[in-house]
Amino acid sequence: MKIFATYNIKGGVGKTSTAVNLGFLAASQGYRVLLWDLDPQGAASFLFRIKPRVKGGGKALIQGRRPVDAAIKGTDFDNLDLLPADFTYRNLDLLLDEAKRPARRLASLLAPLESDYDLVILDCPPSISLLSESVLHAADLLLVPLIPTTLSVRTLDQLTDFVGGFNGHRPDVFAFFSMVDRRKRLHTQIAHDLPQERGDFATAAIPALSVIEQMSVRRAPVTAFAPRSQATQQYAALWQEARDRAGLAAPAS
Ligand SMILES: Nc1ncnc2c1ncn2[C@@H]1O[C@H](COP(=O)(O)OP(=O)(O)OP(=O)(O)O)[C@@H](O)[C@H]1O
Ligand SMILES: [Mg+2]
Repeated sequence: MKIFATYNIKGGVGKTSTAVNLGFLAASQGYRVLLWDLDPQGAASFLFRIKPRVKGGGKALIQGRRPVDAAIKGTDFDNLDLLPADFTYRNLDLLLDEAKRPARRLASLLAPLESDYDLVILDCPPSISLLSESVLHAADLLLVPLIPTTLSVRTLDQLTDFVGGFNGHRPDVFAFFSMVDRRKRLHTQIAHDLPQERGDFATAAIPALSVIEQMSVRRAPVTAFAPRSQATQQYAALWQEARDRAGLAAPAS
């Protein structure tokens, strides 16, 4: 089982869209996938038409009073399950703070699922917090969507430095450009140059496309409702790079 997380300290950069589409693509290839919507806003749960509710709230999960698998819901798609958001997740930081070894908590909560899933994707809220630290410690691959600007690259370097200071397990930081606007010269230039100069960038980039925005109207991954779109092509290319980079073996069946 590999754990991916879509993470950026910034909001509205494409974390949830990426988690949802890569989750769908992986599941459609036969991987058993669990997506955990860690954001109290519940956008990923909304997109999969699942109520953002966990019995007992985040507290029961974090304290281990309710096993994680009891909260898991099936989605409309084969091989793809969701651990929904809950509004109490806004307090996850406090709950983690009370836990033993908070930075390791998510990893240990997910450990019993090892034989049930090939891939877990953590969709994180935008922040840098104890929760994000716990996510960083659990993840094998950190997918970091960046809007192509010079400042966003600085943010990435700060994140890489932060992760580099961890003892023991460190996630592989893998950035990609998101919401690339073809009409902006700086966007296309940065999105073209950086992946060639640096080893921590995906070659695939996700363009700004209205069909991706349509996900919130259709309440489904764009990769499911528009399989032949440019959006799907790019998400598929990103998925392939991420899968290869993480060394995820071909699905069993
Ligand atoms: N490539 C894209 N092109 C156009 N719109 C996009 C693209 N990616 C995401 N969006 C839209 O931008 C908004 C924010 O995207 P998304 O929810 O994926 O970002 P996020 O980083 O998860 O946000 P948050 O920090 O609030 O969790 C959504 O309305 C989504 O439909
Ligand atoms: Mg989100």
